[in-house]
Amino acid sequence: MTDLHTTYLGLPLRSPLVASAGPLTGDLDRMRDLEAHGAAAIVMPSLFEEQIEHETNEIDRLFTMYQDSFGEASSVLPELDGYNSGVDRYLELVEAAKAALDIPVIASLNGTNIGGWLRYATLLQDAGADAIELNLYSVAADPIVSGATIESEHFGLVAVLADEISIPLAVKISPNYSSLASFAVGLQEAGASGVVMFNRFYLPDLDLETLDVTPRVALSTPEEVRLPLRWTGILREHLSMSIAASSGVHSGFDAAKLLLAGADVVMTTSSLLRHGPEHLATIEAQLRDWMSEHDYDTVDEMRGAVSRAAAADPSAYERANYIGNLASYTSGFLSTDPIGLRHH
Ligand SMILES: Cc1cc2nc3c(=O)[nH]c(=O)nc-3n(C[C@H](O)[C@H](O)[C@H](O)COP(=O)(O)O)c2cc1C
Repeated sequence: MTDLHTTYLGLPLRSPLVASAGPLTGDLDRMRDLEAHGAAAIVMPSLFEEQIEHETNEIDRLFTMYQDSFGEASSVLPELDGYNSGVDRYLELVEAAKAALDIPVIASLNGTNIGGWLRYATLLQDAGADAIELNLYSVAADPIVSGATIESEHFGLVAVLADEISIPLAVKISPNYSSLASFAVGLQEAGASGVVMFNRFYLPDLDLETLDVTPRVALSTPEEVRLPLRWTGILREHLSMSIAASSGVHSGFDAAKLLLAGADVVMTTSSLLRHGPEHLATIEAQLRDWMSEHDYDTVDEMRGAVSRAAAADPSAYERANYIGNLASYTSGFLSTDPIGLRHH
């Protein structure tokens, strides 16, 4: 029997298959289903900086309003006790999930600014979260702000957050940093215990009739696994912190590729939204089958066996194959070779 045990953020897990943040991981019944079908850990949907700041401001507003009306601050406290915010519900869900499940529950915070919202990390920890995932989801749209500035702000945020909590901190990033390798190493130096590569950005669409710009959530396809595959393979040798590979994991074969490239765990959301929580059991069975057919007894043996450092052709993870790839495509359907690609 293959041994799927692995460790992520210092947490021992029964397998490398983790349910990433999404609608299913924000509902207690679905969380139970995910555990029952083999999820080794669950990442809850993100609690947003704006949501926390808004609710904190709202509480301040109510407090000031009542204080002005009655003069006595104490008279408002019963009212505020009854104020059951989304943030409170999130904390309650963390507690409920911890009571109902045996697997680690990772809470997620989304934000990019150092501010009062960060103290919610401690509340999530107190509610029982096993780790925090910081979801750095931002679009660098201001031409005045350089990449170096953004990166140093993100390092600062990670350092503050890591300092604030005693549970491990994972950082979920996009692939859109100018030097991803240096950024990932910087996250580790700032105190992160793991990196999640990658979040998917929801790109806008334009409705040609109404001329509305509409963000659209589309589920991923297995093709997308190549992006985390590249960066997991490249970064494994440079990072001692955990690597969670995310995007495009739809089968046990996708999972096998990412583990071979060096991931400690793989995460999936789209495949579970498409096929339901029971799909986790299919992914696990496919992974086990592949491992036994290829004589891998443990995930530890697989991890990084084909990372960039270990691959027969390390350059395949980088640019060197560029010309070769173009040439192989060109020779498939063109009779001429105008720029001499085939000779490379
Ligand atoms: C409907 C939906 C909601 C999501 N919500 C969150 C979220 O709250 N926080 C987060 O970090 N990622 C969120 N994600 C991103 C996923 O966790 C995951 O990183 C992404 O979908 C790529 O993985 P996949 O190819 O397995 O879907 C969401 C994805 C979907 C499809």
